[in-house]
Amino acid sequence: MIIIKTPDEIEKMKKAGEILANLHKEIGKIIKPGITTMEIDRYVEDYLISRGAYPEQKGYHGYPYATCASINDEICHGFPREEKLREGDILAIDMVVRFDGWLADSAWSYGVGEISEDAKKLLDITRQSLYLGIEQAVVGNRLGDIGNAIQKHVESNGFSVVRDFVGHGIGKDMHEDPQVPHYGKAGRGVRLVEGMVITIEPMVNAGVYNMKLDDNKWTARTTDGKLSAQYEHTIAITKDGPLILTDQGEER
Ligand code: MF3
Ligand code: CO
Repeated sequence: MIIIKTPDEIEKMKKAGEILANLHKEIGKIIKPGITTMEIDRYVEDYLISRGAYPEQKGYHGYPYATCASINDEICHGFPREEKLREGDILAIDMVVRFDGWLADSAWSYGVGEISEDAKKLLDITRQSLYLGIEQAVVGNRLGDIGNAIQKHVESNGFSVVRDFVGHGIGKDMHEDPQVPHYGKAGRGVRLVEGMVITIEPMVNAGVYNMKLDDNKWTARTTDGKLSAQYEHTIAITKDGPLILTDQGEER
């Protein structure tokens, strides 16, 4: 069942989204060779708690950390760890913030120091595909319009869209209906109506789209060992168009 949000409720989710967006910008400033994802995770938890917010991922179905920190060939749900990041790594930080009972969810990919041209292209295409998907998140369109826009951009640039993880409705719960695939046929699927709030969160692989799970039963990585990137926003469908609740401003 899709839970429709009132304009008031969307305002509340936007508060959570603003905290999350500002936090991503701070993380962008501290990521450099030598820092560990465990340090980033502790920074995130302190940042949120000190603002009266909560890192919703921590304890969610037993997930042990505030952030998912997915490095290089890790697609998603990477565990923060005490290993130093190295020049040339790429890293996606995914977080869900609870504030005043409402949630926002956003992942962002970062390069560590100087990264290769290939890695840069993967980040650029993935981020562009997110915004192309968001453009389709308008009243009257269907979910397939979002997935199709993302898939076309990704595949025409020689990359692939991960199938095993999808976007989702979000509100007071992290995962609500509907599921939001990042691939598919235009004109198909659930019709978008005012008051729906969803995440769009394409995971894009440099090689094949297949994944395998680590022994920790959480972390998904590419089967061919090639790079993977992810960008995610929480979006409200409004009569004035898509409203990005986790917008970082200039960061496009
Ligand atoms: N933030 C993720 C999403 O985009 C969910 C993370 S799973 C968790 O749906 F266990 F880490 F919370
Ligand atoms: Co997320």
